[in-house]
Amino acid sequence: MHIGFIGTGEIAACMVRALTGRGHTIRVSERNARVATELAQLPDVSVASNEEVTALSSTVVLCLMADVAEDVLPTLPFRADQQVISVMADMPLARVAPLCAPATNISLTIPLPFIDQGGCPLPVYPDSGSVAALFGGENIIVPCTTQDGFNAHMAACALSSAVLAEIQHTADWLAGLTGNAAGAEAYVAALIAGYFRGMRFDGSGEVQSALDSLSTEGGFNATLRDHMAPARTELTRGLDAFRPRLGLPDA
Ligand SMILES: NC(=O)c1ccc[n+]([C@@H]2O[C@H](COP(=O)([O-])OP(=O)(O)OC[C@H]3O[C@@H](n4cnc5c(N)ncnc54)[C@H](OP(=O)(O)O)[C@@H]3O)[C@@H](O)[C@H]2O)c1
Repeated sequence: MHIGFIGTGEIAACMVRALTGRGHTIRVSERNARVATELAQLPDVSVASNEEVTALSSTVVLCLMADVAEDVLPTLPFRADQQVISVMADMPLARVAPLCAPATNISLTIPLPFIDQGGCPLPVYPDSGSVAALFGGENIIVPCTTQDGFNAHMAACALSSAVLAEIQHTADWLAGLTGNAAGAEAYVAALIAGYFRGMRFDGSGEVQSALDSLSTEGGFNATLRDHMAPARTELTRGLDAFRPRLGLPDA
């Protein structure tokens, strides 16, 4: 496949690293020059202008910031036979589609920086198969049937840093008692990672099963979980606070 990236920043670099070595021809746009030059060290990656990237690609991946996209995309030579994948936050399909005319095969997705290691969950709306064709083998495709459903994944994605902050906070607390910050970080991070290692991520209730196994009445886990119940109310409030920004209905 001929794959082009418009906007060569942090997330484009991770996606290119996920695709390299798989028989594709990959072109990245000139900006950011440092990242583009670095990626062009890969044998199947070259740097080209936005216009060339668009003209020479069967799949164009849009990795611009939303405000830049509004200015740049309408000037590019999109074709009706191209696939377009947008990873841009705050850019619903209704906003992206007119900017890419006459291309109509457009899918939105939310890659994460670890996509280059595989195992990345990728919500897709609408699911034309283009995201699965590029990333499906090693990653987890989550098709969405509505823009609202896709947008809700954007809010849920924000859980990442909230959970990481809890892990860091617990490691700091532990280190305060052990005096071993490195050991505390290693312990808490590996502890949490361990619960996910054997999971298939197939929606079969694996998380609830793990919770059930940590529910001995009066045990440390059940006790702390009960103590933390108000934090989950706050979590719902925090997620709901994204509804206006994401155009989601009121709770
Ligand atoms: N980072 C993530 O984890 C992540 C995850 C999912 C989705 N996204 C989305 O992906 C998009 C990019 O995010 P990012 O984190 O990769 O941002 P970023 O690192 O700032 O990348 C944006 C890139 O666009 C380039 N650019 C600016 N003007 C341009 C132009 N006229 N033509 C071509 N390229 C131009 C910038 O180059 P200069 O540096 O030279 O200005 C920069 O390299 C955003 O919409 C974001 O919401 C990001």
